[in-house]
Amino acid sequence: MASDITTVAVLGAGSMGHGIAEVAAIAGYDVWMRDIEESYVEDGLDQLEWSVGKLAEKGRLDEDPETVLSRVRTTTDLETAVGDADLVVEAIPEDLEMKRNLFADVDEFASDDAVLATNTSSLRVSDIARAVGNPERFCGLHFFNPPVRMDLVEVVSGEQTDPAVVDAAYEFVESLDKTPVLVRKDVPQFVVNNVLTPLMEEAGWMLDDGEAEVRQADAAMVFRRGYPMGPFELADFGGLDVFVHSREQWDDPVPECFETRVDRDDLGRKTGRGFYDYEEGDGVDYE
Ligand code: 3HC
Repeated sequence: MASDITTVAVLGAGSMGHGIAEVAAIAGYDVWMRDIEESYVEDGLDQLEWSVGKLAEKGRLDEDPETVLSRVRTTTDLETAVGDADLVVEAIPEDLEMKRNLFADVDEFASDDAVLATNTSSLRVSDIARAVGNPERFCGLHFFNPPVRMDLVEVVSGEQTDPAVVDAAYEFVESLDKTPVLVRKDVPQFVVNNVLTPLMEEAGWMLDDGEAEVRQADAAMVFRRGYPMGPFELADFGGLDVFVHSREQWDDPVPECFETRVDRDDLGRKTGRGFYDYEEGDGVDYE
């Protein structure tokens, strides 16, 4: 475990939040997972329990699932979640005002020594950090989906982040048995998503122009490049609404094939249909 961190509060129990809570619990931290409604907390905990059980089944867990799960406590109360936390990781929707409002409250309830981190994927860390009195203790910890299976985590230094806070965050990521990548320039989408997004966009423009088909583009990247998923499969996996929202908030153009699906509420795996139809059971076979 990272030397000064024993208790981690994760704010948000969605796909990223419950996954971050899970990796922290697996690494031995005491975890509070908090969301604004009991049903969100319960859904997140159900998924966390499923995932821990699956890891155990696959022989990927060093302890009993029950031991890992005993480290996770849940609440809807912010003060309870962050009051004793040494590290607070926020993983709520990508809305700047929502994140700022949350951190203004966290600033009130958390200990002055706690490190505050955002899991934002598309906003600037420094813009969120302005919500707290001491932005020196604020950094980015950008996990990838699903956190429990993705090795990489971006550790982002905001304009005012204290180097000691970056070091603590870096050490925390290492203690999760993951690979930290230090991002020194706080640009929207950091490094990984800036590299990844054009791939998904280009596939989208080609589909719009009739120059590529969904399975064909995915197969090209999976079989020719060795990627675990092609661009459309990955978009379905992360949620098409998440992708479109991240482009629109910076006024970046979005391929029509993404927008029409979002307008139809075909958001990918989570709604059963996106570029692929998961309800029909055809899933992704590239043929
Ligand atoms: N927890 C536990 N087990 C899991 C799991 C999870 N979260 N997800 C999948 N598994 C299990 C599956 O259920 C399966 O079990 P089964 O064989 O009993 O059904 C087992 O792991 C293996 O599943 P797969 O055969 O599907 O596993 P793969 O070897 O293909 O790996 C994957 C799955 C890790 C998701 C892989 O497909 C992958 O790496 N995909 C790319 C993901 C990626 O690129 N993520 C980054 C997206 S960008 C991002 O996150 C940016 C952010 O800002 C939004």
